[in-house]
Amino acid sequence: MLRLHSRSEESSRPTSDASPVFARAPGKIILAGEHFVVLGAPAVAMAINLYSKVQVTPKNSSGVDVDADIPLRFLAGKTGNPMAPDPRRLLRPLQLAAEATLKHVGSNDRGLHVNVECEIPVAAGLGSSASTTVAIISAVGRFNRIELSRKEIFKLAFVPENFLHGKPSGVDQAVCIYGGMIQFNRPSDVKTFRPKKEPLILVCDTGIHHATRTLVGGVVQKSQRERKDFQNYMVRVREISNGVARALRSGDDEDLGTLMYQNHELLRKIGVSHPKLDHLVETARRAGALGAKLTGAGGGGCIIVLSQSTTARDRISRVLRKEGGTPYKISMDTSGVAWQPA
Ligand code: PMV
Repeated sequence: MLRLHSRSEESSRPTSDASPVFARAPGKIILAGEHFVVLGAPAVAMAINLYSKVQVTPKNSSGVDVDADIPLRFLAGKTGNPMAPDPRRLLRPLQLAAEATLKHVGSNDRGLHVNVECEIPVAAGLGSSASTTVAIISAVGRFNRIELSRKEIFKLAFVPENFLHGKPSGVDQAVCIYGGMIQFNRPSDVKTFRPKKEPLILVCDTGIHHATRTLVGGVVQKSQRERKDFQNYMVRVREISNGVARALRSGDDEDLGTLMYQNHELLRKIGVSHPKLDHLVETARRAGALGAKLTGAGGGGCIIVLSQSTTARDRISRVLRKEGGTPYKISMDTSGVAWQPA
């Protein structure tokens, strides 16, 4: 376990008598439309039952202190990947989230201590940063006796997400806030919907970390150089995302799986896949998966795999592990961000 500390510059002030507040927010997977969503295409995402948990307590000096526990296996790629994030850089967005919230609620000079426990692999496409910052925003709001609306949390989460990713679409924080399934068209058009049945999804981590900022920047530049191709890709992604939402609503797993494979192909075309991602997708296909694709920014991170039954899922999971992946069985989170008093 890696314990990270970040101390604010502080001045002395009286101890606050506020009691601690807890909040948690889920991680996420993107079922369709990542990267293209930054360029304006719709994306479909699902909240998952891996959480970041946050505790906010008073401290007797001003400024925000942050402590974070992040399991080491989530930081150091098995391959010793140089893209593994610098742990110190992970704390700044968390501090920014708390500071932006204090400012928003008009409590700038309040001193508080934020303690984070993250069970979501970092830099793997599972929304660890959005989940953590959304939980912090909710908890800091509540700590100041203000119940922030989901829209307010969404807006505030752009502060740390901009710092971290440069040009985030907003899909990550939206799904961590709302929970369940969402179709994200743009920040002002986020629709939650209920799937007919929960898709049987397996996440499989390559153990290779990625930098979302670099990958997103690369795609934006490529889209400017290769306008014609990207116009065609955007038409196709729109069909895929709408098709994925339809298939989930009607419970058509065959259709959903086919669209996932097609989405992976498009992501390969724009250069955000990785040989290990392609290998795991191909392995899943040969092992009988209905669909598989990279999820999130790519360049490493995770794939998601759709299975027909729990037996098939367990078999595919064993094969993926043999091929060097780390599979996680996940299910859908339906609560989104939630706070509770101590
Ligand atoms: O940071 P990740 O790996 O969860 O990816 C986020 C999804 C992208 O579409 C690649 C970026 C965005 O802001 O939508």
